[in-house]
Amino acid sequence: MPTPVPRLRLGVNIDHVATIRNARGGRHPDPVRAAKLAVAAGCDGITAHLREDRRHIRDDDIARLKAEIDKPLNMEMAATEEMLRIAIATRPHAVCLVPEKRTERTTEGGLDAVKHKAELKPVVYALKHAGIRVSLFIGAQPAQIEAAAELGAPVVELHTGSWCDALMTERAAEANAEWELLHAGAVLAQSFGLEVHAGHGLDYASAETIAALPQVVELNIGHFLIGEAVFEGLAETVRFMRAAMDRGRGRA
Ligand code: PXP
Repeated sequence: MPTPVPRLRLGVNIDHVATIRNARGGRHPDPVRAAKLAVAAGCDGITAHLREDRRHIRDDDIARLKAEIDKPLNMEMAATEEMLRIAIATRPHAVCLVPEKRTERTTEGGLDAVKHKAELKPVVYALKHAGIRVSLFIGAQPAQIEAAAELGAPVVELHTGSWCDALMTERAAEANAEWELLHAGAVLAQSFGLEVHAGHGLDYASAETIAALPQVVELNIGHFLIGEAVFEGLAETVRFMRAAMDRGRGRA
């Protein structure tokens, strides 16, 4: 009997609703309203990144998301003392630890779990101890996956940014190499007993492709969905994304 393919969850990242709100400094558009709409349209969870510089999501957005959304909240954050304090006080369903540089436009690479093992260890431990599911946002290199497993993180989120960039700019050889890395990484992570998520730069086509990897159980997608919502509306965009993921999953 073949093993059944697990359901693929869609986490909608609403950071860039807050980016638009903050452009005018007021309350509109409200990321919590967007999160509720995404939930009503069929997503499985909401993701929000509380950056140290608060450039999009702010502390009270995280508190309101936790209080008002009836789907799991995945809080992305740097492994700092301040963020750990906020996460433990808020108790989101999950925390995804990400690297953060103030000068970057977005999370440009994965965490270096090999180099920063000593700093990550107490943060992973404290979050797990608080009953929060921890994931590490890493590249799919075997050394990173091994380090995540050694750190005791139950989940890894594989950074799909380089693969998506190569696809977008039609660098086929690079896209193939990145895809092979992701595929092998997903298999290796699962062999260590890690739950495998993926995200960064995904659109309908790349989400459909990666949905065919049966090891991957969650995709976290933000920028494309919020951008596309300008044309199609957020609910329709979430439904189209769900359909693309279901098509891909059908080939798993
Ligand atoms: N996953 C993680 C860990 C991220 O940091 C981000 C970007 O905030 C995403 C997923 C979503 O990436 P994108 O906005 O490109 O879809």
